[in-house]
Amino acid sequence: MTKIRVGVVGCGAIGTEICKAIDGYADLGMELKFLIDSHPERIEKLRKSLIKKPAIIKSDSARLDEILTGVDLLIECASQAAVREFAIPALKQGKDVMILTVGALIYEDGLFEEIEHISKEKGCKVYIPSGAVAGIDGLKSGAIGGIHSVLLTTRKPPSGFAGNAYVKEKGIDLLSIEEEETLFTGSAKEAVRFFPENVNVAASLSLAGIGPEATRVKIVADPSAVENVHEIEARGEFGKLFVRVENVPSRANPKTSYLAALSAIATLKSISYPIRVGT
Ligand SMILES: NC(=O)c1ccc[n+]([C@@H]2O[C@H](COP(=O)([O-])OP(=O)(O)OC[C@H]3O[C@@H](n4cnc5c(N)ncnc54)[C@H](O)[C@@H]3O)[C@@H](O)[C@H]2O)c1
Repeated sequence: MTKIRVGVVGCGAIGTEICKAIDGYADLGMELKFLIDSHPERIEKLRKSLIKKPAIIKSDSARLDEILTGVDLLIECASQAAVREFAIPALKQGKDVMILTVGALIYEDGLFEEIEHISKEKGCKVYIPSGAVAGIDGLKSGAIGGIHSVLLTTRKPPSGFAGNAYVKEKGIDLLSIEEEETLFTGSAKEAVRFFPENVNVAASLSLAGIGPEATRVKIVADPSAVENVHEIEARGEFGKLFVRVENVPSRANPKTSYLAALSAIATLKSISYPIRVGT
């Protein structure tokens, strides 16, 4: 069977897990052709840990068009800027793309539409894994029949908001919070500006459901919370959905949930495996 040739942009917490899965899972049917990261030492560390080492390593997007010809799928797991810098040229070459920094698609006005337009024109696929949340399957199904409301409530210990500009501007004293306190309620579109660390989860839910303006987000500082907890409540013609995820942070990057890396690997499996379970 011909292997799917893959290029990865971003050799951090998620990129490392993805590359190790491609390197080690015999049944993924993929081979790693290039690694890109603006920090060459991160590429080197990852490359050293792989059995089948990719031939091409790069620290920027210079001559990207050349190396894109050798892959079928580009995986972005780097940053918001990297979505425009790498995913757009890949799509223009008719390559499939997987985007982990899904927040970029609602943060930058017009980017989602641009990606949608190019991928339709070129006939290629854009994969957006569920990331750090669950329930995306139910939202997608529910959206077919009509969804009335989606609310994402994110809880973190107060210390998890240290340094947040919105919290500072509102004069909220995080140290004095003894019982759970709502710091923000608003649309997903507003939430990603004030709480950028929440951007990916809010974006995935918005894209699967009723869009960033209609999706509501509530941010709660909860002294009893140990992990980052996301709760999703949706109502629609299908009935009501409630999902709660208590995320374990990735060891390599505590800001990233381990589930996000696993969801990328599960998406790769669904690309290469003939039988697809779930919506
Ligand atoms: N979809 C989700 O639910 C979800 C969850 C967690 C993280 N994420 C996103 O996935 C991305 C990767 O997360 P991570 O935890 O692996 O991050 P990380 O910081 O551990 O790794 C990112 C790597 O990308 C590199 N990089 C960043 N911008 C680059 C650019 N323009 N060109 C080349 N290299 C670049 C960095 O040097 C770094 O090594 C982040 O953007 C994060 O916001 C998404």
